[in-house]
Amino acid sequence: MYKINDIKLAEQGRKQLEWAERHMPALVRMRAKYSKAKKLSGIRIAMCLHITKETGVLVRTLRAWGANVAIAAANPLSTQDDIAAALASEGINIFAWRGETLKEYAANIKRVLDTKPQIIIDDGGDLHAEIHKRYPNLKLIGGTEETTTGIFRVMALENKKLLMYPVIAVNNAYTKYLFDNRYGTGQSTLDGIIRATNIFIPGKTAVVAGYGWVGRGVVMRLHGLGARVIVTEVNPFRALEARMDGFEVMKMEDAAKFGDIFVTATGDRDIITTKHMLKMKDGTIVSNTGHFDVEIDVHGLKKIAKKVRRIREHMDEYTLPNGRKIFLLAEGRIVNLGAAEGHPSEVMDLSFCNQALSALYLNDKKGTLKKHVYKIPDSIDEDIARTKLDTMGVSIDRLTKAQKSYLESWEL
Ligand SMILES: NC(=O)c1ccc[n+]([C@@H]2O[C@H](COP(=O)([O-])OP(=O)(O)OC[C@H]3O[C@@H](n4cnc5c(N)ncnc54)[C@H](O)[C@@H]3O)[C@@H](O)[C@H]2O)c1
Repeated sequence: MYKINDIKLAEQGRKQLEWAERHMPALVRMRAKYSKAKKLSGIRIAMCLHITKETGVLVRTLRAWGANVAIAAANPLSTQDDIAAALASEGINIFAWRGETLKEYAANIKRVLDTKPQIIIDDGGDLHAEIHKRYPNLKLIGGTEETTTGIFRVMALENKKLLMYPVIAVNNAYTKYLFDNRYGTGQSTLDGIIRATNIFIPGKTAVVAGYGWVGRGVVMRLHGLGARVIVTEVNPFRALEARMDGFEVMKMEDAAKFGDIFVTATGDRDIITTKHMLKMKDGTIVSNTGHFDVEIDVHGLKKIAKKVRRIREHMDEYTLPNGRKIFLLAEGRIVNLGAAEGHPSEVMDLSFCNQALSALYLNDKKGTLKKHVYKIPDSIDEDIARTKLDTMGVSIDRLTKAQKSYLESWEL
């Protein structure tokens, strides 16, 4: 069963999957390690992830372990149609195309839930939320959550004692946020901004909202390319870190007039409002790399704009009432997926080892876990890190017995 843009793109999609697999050696190795046991045999898995070549490699892995997969996109703009076609041609139930309307996006999420899944793999919490609103009778073994914003949502369910099944917080694994959120988003956000605009970064002033794992990755790469970077924060520890890492820290209302490029990375709403936009310089570029399109007030911008023109594929020019023009990338949606291809395969290798092994873990522990948000077990996290190092040809030391006992003793 599938509903996609064009099945004729399947051949191109398969080549992309081949390219991704070449760069995801840890996941390919995990696939081979657990293939024989077919531990997910007959298990129905519903996924809501960005439809990229890396997601395709994850889907193939779950399939190799015996699962029946149904998948929808985690964002109306992030689907790569050739990958959707390749997966459809391989018999995956897929309901996704680039440029879905919000109505189509919601309908596709319902379609995957109508396959009566037993395990949920989500990115951003839309599947979890839909189940809690409209699918109370699903018999679920458990679910996983890929990103910070989705973790906030499942934690909110748990805190209100509404969570219906155990959830593994994939985002909170060391082998996820330290690499994907930081280095993955750092590189791919710059990739999105550059593809959308083709601007030169050196010498520009960039304002990054949020100095969490995503924000600091984006800051690191902007700085590396020669931008002057200003950070805005609400958390005093993170503001202090940003300052001591060598960046200017100020309020958004003060930073608004300095920036040539803005990137929001907070997971929070109303970070750049029309009040800020009206202070911006003529020609300012505004983008978001947080999960949802709530960080920039696009609705308000549309209301006050005198004129809107599409200048390039992922860039719209808005003429403000004061005559200045600002340029919004990817409609204010997640810019690395809207205007580029998301994270490179090498880093998704780590994130999707976590997703795949979490699905195995949930199934192994069926019936024994509580309705609680769990961190992935340290042993799995560590296994992923060691496997990745091994695929990179990196060996590290191991603690000797004497070192271990020294580190565990208080007498010294
Ligand atoms: N683009 C991608 O591919 C990608 C990848 C991973 C995560 N994400 C998303 O990026 C967002 C950030 O994730 P993270 O892992 O960095 O989270 P995080 O919690 O580590 O960091 C978010 C930071 O934003 C700050 N913040 C919150 N409200 C703010 C405000 N009003 N002004 C300034 N700063 C504010 C917080 O204090 C925090 O330091 C989330 O929505 C997450 O889901 C996107």
